[in-house]
Amino acid sequence: MNRHEFLQGLHTKLKPRTYLETGINDGKSLALSRVPSIGIDPAFAITQELQADVHLVRTTSDEFFARSEPLAHLPIPVLDLAFIDGMHLAEYALRDYLGVERFTTASSVVVFDDMLPRTIDEAARKRHTHFWTGDVYKAAEALREQRPDLIVLEVDTQPTGVVVVLLPDASRDGVLPGYDDWMDVAMAPDPQDVPQAVLTRSRALNPETLLASKGWAELRRLRGRPDTPQLRERIRAAFGDVVR
Ligand SMILES: C[S@@+](CC[C@H](N)C(=O)[O-])C[C@H]1O[C@@H](n2cnc3c(N)ncnc32)[C@H](O)[C@@H]1O
Repeated sequence: MNRHEFLQGLHTKLKPRTYLETGINDGKSLALSRVPSIGIDPAFAITQELQADVHLVRTTSDEFFARSEPLAHLPIPVLDLAFIDGMHLAEYALRDYLGVERFTTASSVVVFDDMLPRTIDEAARKRHTHFWTGDVYKAAEALREQRPDLIVLEVDTQPTGVVVVLLPDASRDGVLPGYDDWMDVAMAPDPQDVPQAVLTRSRALNPETLLASKGWAELRRLRGRPDTPQLRERIRAAFGDVVR
């Protein structure tokens, strides 16, 4: 299954009320949305027919999230589904997550693209290959290490894998403890020391299996409930059928 088929599956299962994407390029992934949406890219050139009420923002995601009311276009100031596919460097992808997380609920879902490079060359910070993931996989490692409250799932999509993050927490207010120390490690010069588990996809879930989880329906049912430890536990339990 490719990343767009997986994303389409998420739109179908999750039925998000709102959608945001960083890095929209020609609009292929944005075209999957049918709900009020925001697409951010400093250099987009849309060639697809967009079928949603979309705010297209021609800027960087950092500038967008620095605005005072970035989600003003949406009917609710909440993101049910977000797709992070902008600049392919770890620090940009992680900042995109932290920007998105400020506008999530416990039932929101955040997807990162290009999280499973197939080779060390593909994962280079300085691009020299046709397919290029850069080192965005490090953003998931940072979340796993610093935020054990999150569910961070690698998914074996083609060509370069995605990561799904569940149970985001807006009360963190876009702050990741240890960000500055992590930056020193993240910005290591090429070649990158890509973990074997990333290269071999040994932890990655089958995308069909993940989409078949009972968890998506539960996320829809629990939308709008007060954020309590019990709510988070229910969501975690609902994905017990796929989360090891
Ligand atoms: C791989 S393309 C996106 C593909 C698209 N999401 C899809 O699946 O059809 C990456 C895009 O990120 C954009 N980009 C680069 N730097 C960015 C930034 N700082 N903020 C937002 N988008 C950025 C590029 O202009 C490019 O169009």
